Parts: sequence; structure tokens; C-alpha cells
Amino acid sequence: MGATMTFSETPAPDDVQPGTGAVPAAVNSGSAWERYWHQVDRGELAEPPWNAASEEAEVPYLAMMLGRLPADLPLVDMGCGDGRLTCRLARHFDRVTGLDVSASAIARARQATVPSNVDYDVLDLSDEAGAQRIALRLGEADVHLRGVLHAMPPHTWPAALRALAALAGRRGHVFDIEVRHDREHLGQGSRSRTLMARHGQAPDRVADVGRAGLSLQRIGDLAGLYRDAGWHVVESGEQVHSSDVRLPDGSVVDYPFQYVLARPPSD
Ligand SMILES: C[S@@+](CC[C@H](N)C(=O)[O-])C[C@H]1O[C@@H](n2cnc3c(N)ncnc32)[C@H](O)[C@@H]1O
Repeated sequence: MGATMTFSETPAPDDVQPGTGAVPAAVNSGSAWERYWHQVDRGELAEPPWNAASEEAEVPYLAMMLGRLPADLPLVDMGCGDGRLTCRLARHFDRVTGLDVSASAIARARQATVPSNVDYDVLDLSDEAGAQRIALRLGEADVHLRGVLHAMPPHTWPAALRALAALAGRRGHVFDIEVRHDREHLGQGSRSRTLMARHGQAPDRVADVGRAGLSLQRIGDLAGLYRDAGWHVVESGEQVHSSDVRLPDGSVVDYPFQYVLARPPSD
């Protein structure tokens, strides 16, 4: 049986009990993510909860995505972290570039076995000029991003959408899939507190995201976010995915997602 939970329910810094290692940080800044990946790399934090052992668990929406993205453009995996998902996507696309704000995440991705059709670079998605520079090198691209906008401060989302538009150009599509945070799934109050009360604590892989000072942000209506910024929303919807994170009672942690397939504003 699955227990539904979202990353945002990991304890935010002010949720964490004194003495448990919370690091005060500007919320979800690039430097907070860099610190997180540096600690993961040193083995000081557990394996990220979004990394999964099998392709089926890691990217259950793959068939849907392949059916919607014409394969004639290179793919950008935005917010690729340590490249686990990027390499899985690369089995199905001719050319994939993984981009992430964290130099430690990119170094970790490069240290792993890198398929010949994959490369990586550091990019802060709120840096539109940086995205334009990468777009000049890659040409127009389709862009996949999972759990990245909700990992960024909300005030940076408009700049992020402009950077995504620069990467996609005139022909590219963006496929964005983000954790859904709604009352139905959250119930009353903090789910992490409920889980901790029931099980003593959230699984380390989930709790360590909060311990690193990251508090992932609520996106009410993902398709609306794109539409309000002038994007053409081709399709949007919701899904629930099982992860391979388990609670102490053996139940699998499920994540509710919302996704959008969209084309940038034409002007
Ligand atoms: C929740 S993780 C998801 C990782 C990966 N997309 C996946 O689903 O397996 C969020 C990722 O976004 C990256 N990230 C956060 N803020 C970013 C920014 N401003 N620009 C680029 N990447 C960012 C983080 O470093 C992290 O790797």
C-alpha cells in the first residue's frame, strides 16, 4: 500500500527540531542546492529520494512523454541533478544535455558512466542570459524538467520560464512535471509531522532534503503558471507515481504530480 507524500512536506528549516542539523539558507537558492549536492556527494546525506533503482520507477511517464515530443530535436534535461534520470532519457533520445545549478551535482553526473550522446553543464534556470548562451550552442531543443520549478524560489519562476523559452526556441516544447500539493493529498497540517508521528520520522532520503535547508515550493496550477506567462499549453494533467522510498512499515511513498506540455510565447 502506498503513502502519498511530497518533498515539500520534508521539514523546512524552521520545522526541524534544534540539534538535527538544519542549515539556515536563503530558501532554495542555488547555493542551498549546491550545499545539498556537496553533502550527498560526501555521503553526509542519503541518496536523493527522486533517484530510483529502475527506469519504471524513475520515469513512469516516459511512454507518454515519448508520444508527445517529436524526436527531431535535442533534449535538455533541466535540473538534472546527478544525471540519473538524464541517462535514462538518453536511451530514447539522440542527444541529451543535462543542466543544473549545482556544480557538485554536475561533477557527480560527469563522474558516473556518461553515455556518448549525453553532456552536462552548469546553468541557473533563473539566468536567462546563460540559457541564451547554451541555446546558441545547442540550437532549439525540447526541454524536460521534473521537480525543478518547485525546487526554486517562486519569485524566480517568471525568469525561469523566460530561460526555458530561450532553450526551446521556436520549435521546441517544454515538458514540465512537478509534485502536486493540494489539500486532498496534504490533508490537514503538515504531512511530514503526521508521518513522523506515525513512524517516528520520515525516511532519511526524504528528511535529508529538509535537513539541508531546502523547503520545496507549492505550485498551485502548473498549466496556469505557463498560460499566464503567454505559453501555449498543448496538454496538461495529473498522475500519481510510486517511488522506491519506503516507510518503516514497508509501505511505498507515492508522489502526486501535475504535468504540462507547452510551447513558448511566439513573440
Ligand atoms: C527535486 S530535484 C529533481 C532532480 C531531477 N530533475 C529528477 O527529477 O530526478 C531538483 C533539482 O533542481 C536543481 N535546481 C534547483 N534550483 C535550480 C536552478 N535555479 N537552476 C537549475 N537547477 C536547479 C537542483 O539542484 C536539483 O538537482
